[in-house]
Amino acid sequence: MAVLGALSVTMEVPDLEVGINFYVDAGLIADVTSNVARFRCKDQNRDSIVLLGGAPKKRLHHVSLRASDLDSIAARVPGEGGRVCSVPEGCEDRGLWIEDPNGMLIHLVEHPADIQTVAGASFEINAPGRLVRKGRSAMLPRASYSAITPLRLGHILVFSPDVARSVKFVTLALGMGLADHAQDVIAFTCAKKDSDHHVLAFAKSPGVGFHHASFQVKDPDEVGRAGSALLAKAGMGDWGFGRHTMGSNFFHYIQDPWGSWFEYYSDMDHIADHDLWTPTNYALEDSLANWGPPVPHDFVHNYELSMADAPKAVSATEGTPVLTSLMHG
Ligand SMILES: [Fe+2]
Repeated sequence: MAVLGALSVTMEVPDLEVGINFYVDAGLIADVTSNVARFRCKDQNRDSIVLLGGAPKKRLHHVSLRASDLDSIAARVPGEGGRVCSVPEGCEDRGLWIEDPNGMLIHLVEHPADIQTVAGASFEINAPGRLVRKGRSAMLPRASYSAITPLRLGHILVFSPDVARSVKFVTLALGMGLADHAQDVIAFTCAKKDSDHHVLAFAKSPGVGFHHASFQVKDPDEVGRAGSALLAKAGMGDWGFGRHTMGSNFFHYIQDPWGSWFEYYSDMDHIADHDLWTPTNYALEDSLANWGPPVPHDFVHNYELSMADAPKAVSATEGTPVLTSLMHG
């Protein structure tokens, strides 16, 4: 065995307060000490997002993955173009720190699996010839619903200057599996057993950077509800509600204060045994979504490399039609 799942992503940011507001609005629990903010899901006791304040610009610091058999991984890393590193200053002195062939820092940690979420009520759909809900409404008035809290971090997507090389490294050195990809532009990798369709994904860019972290919610309704609520608070861009081809998940992405993204997702494909899964190379038209609204112009823009600043937040009601501001409360 090797990589077993996603644990967290750590970023350097210029303004910690801005980041705290964003991730708390997204439904995560903050724990702030000095110049470090840690965020976890409500029912978990481990970090999913870590922000290191005081940087000149937002920058990916490292991704943390749950893994086993770290000695075997360490032995394979140099042969696949990576290197084993010493513990970065101020970081956890446990697990294995490595750099991939593109210079991206990865922390591999032996960590217990997340406690299995207790199954809730099924997401019911009245379909032709299959009426599962009769004599009652599916939807309650808006005020009936409390704020959504994400269940867990499912996956992390990072920019890579060489997607094929990134995939080769994580599959051969870290023991992950290729789930699907679209040419050399985007690729999704998973754990070999009992994995979400993707745990770590790569999108083509001239350099390394953070694109998005994706959090699971209970069902497609929660994707829409949580996405709408965070969009209204963040006042940045969004993309969704839609459904991906690769992974099949429903999605809604909200832009963070630095131009990267926070995804809510539901209904991801599951790969029980990668040996029984056949990766597909999709056409570029399937690289982002099966259906959904038009893709924002900067959805795959790597602001970490760009001289341009990240887009600025606007007030939720600024320039929006009356109906839209009513919808956002
Ligand atoms: Fe995603």
